[in-house]
Amino acid sequence: MIAVAGATGSVGRWAVTELNRMGLGPLRLGGRRADELEQIAAEIPDAQPFTFDLEDPDSVVRFCAGCAVVLNCAGPSYLILDKLARAAIAAGAAYVDVSGDEPVHRRLTSADFAGTAVLSAGMLPGLSSLVPRWMATEMDKVDSLSTYIGGLERCSPSSATDMILSMHTDDGDGYGHALAGWRHGRLEEKVLGPAKDVEVPFFPDRVSVHPFFSGESARLATAIGVDSMDFWNVFVGDRLVTSFTRMRGRPVAGEEMERAVAELTRAAELDLFGREPYYALVFRMTGVVDGHSVVRTAAMRTADAYRLIATVGALVVHAVVEGNVGRGVSYAADVLDPGWVVAAVRRSPAVTAFELVLDAEPAMEEGAL
Ligand SMILES: NC(=O)c1ccc[n+]([C@@H]2O[C@H](COP(=O)([O-])OP(=O)(O)OC[C@H]3O[C@@H](n4cnc5c(N)ncnc54)[C@H](OP(=O)(O)O)[C@@H]3O)[C@@H](O)[C@H]2O)c1
Repeated sequence: MIAVAGATGSVGRWAVTELNRMGLGPLRLGGRRADELEQIAAEIPDAQPFTFDLEDPDSVVRFCAGCAVVLNCAGPSYLILDKLARAAIAAGAAYVDVSGDEPVHRRLTSADFAGTAVLSAGMLPGLSSLVPRWMATEMDKVDSLSTYIGGLERCSPSSATDMILSMHTDDGDGYGHALAGWRHGRLEEKVLGPAKDVEVPFFPDRVSVHPFFSGESARLATAIGVDSMDFWNVFVGDRLVTSFTRMRGRPVAGEEMERAVAELTRAAELDLFGREPYYALVFRMTGVVDGHSVVRTAAMRTADAYRLIATVGALVVHAVVEGNVGRGVSYAADVLDPGWVVAAVRRSPAVTAFELVLDAEPAMEEGAL
């Protein structure tokens, strides 16, 4: 039995579809809304709707009982933290989280941790490291990496809450560093700045870009041994980025949080108004192959970022079920075969376009980054 927590959510609904498409099951579909769960389960052979509440520990125990894997697509992740992970492990199930990230990793990591937990099994973080790790396997040495991720997409309530909470974690260390980059093999603050109305290859619109260096980026830079690395969040439209930038630097709590979440979700809706959603991940890597300097650019596009997140989560469940992930607490990018993930994602219905440009700069216009 594979349990999906948050099966009624933006990611969870797609995770159910993707797990079923991959032939994984039977599935237990969890959340608080019984009617919605029944409707979703009716479409999936042998699926079991299961009403539970993460705030009710007994129901969480029942939800995890008898499962081989618990996939967490519920949110906000920064409020759930290790609640579901601990229940899953206690029930003898492996735990996979499309989010989780450093706050859950910190809480689970201890000498007596007995089980399998795979965190950051989504798109960003997740695929954002797996694609460049795959690109790096094709080079003898990696010199630099620039990543551009973003697009036009609605913003779910949990994602908005996590965006806000990730700016202020409990140990005072945020999810990452704005304006920072990786230089000479280490993190450097204030080396980059945002830019407006620029052209980025593979993005069909002029966009604004904001440099942000996360814990995931630092782990990636270390793993591929890169000298220089930049990460850019890409925004199409002004509203979401304006709201988000205004919230940075001041903690949000209580009723103010509800207002802030409503503002972010509305801003994303307005940016998207009358347009087709899309999300793109673009990686430009330089390095050395057989003594020659090379430039490689990989670009991936989806019409639904939530589906792509779910696809990666389902692939991680697949790897766990196949016995390809060992025990312990890990990030998906550290334990999955990046070539296998990229090949599977490329073939999946979540991806509408994938391109790999070898030893040439993708076409750019004047004024481009
Ligand atoms: N790694 C990545 O690429 C990435 C990117 C974006 C988002 N995420 C993360 O993915 C997670 C899911 O996001 P989403 O956009 O799918 O969120 P969403 O649409 O707001 O859905 C949240 C889900 O959580 C469930 N839930 C909330 N509180 C619950 C509770 N107390 N007990 C049981 N279930 C509960 C909801 O079900 P009910 O309302 O039916 O209870 C719903 O199914 C979030 O943590 C988000 O930050 C990851």
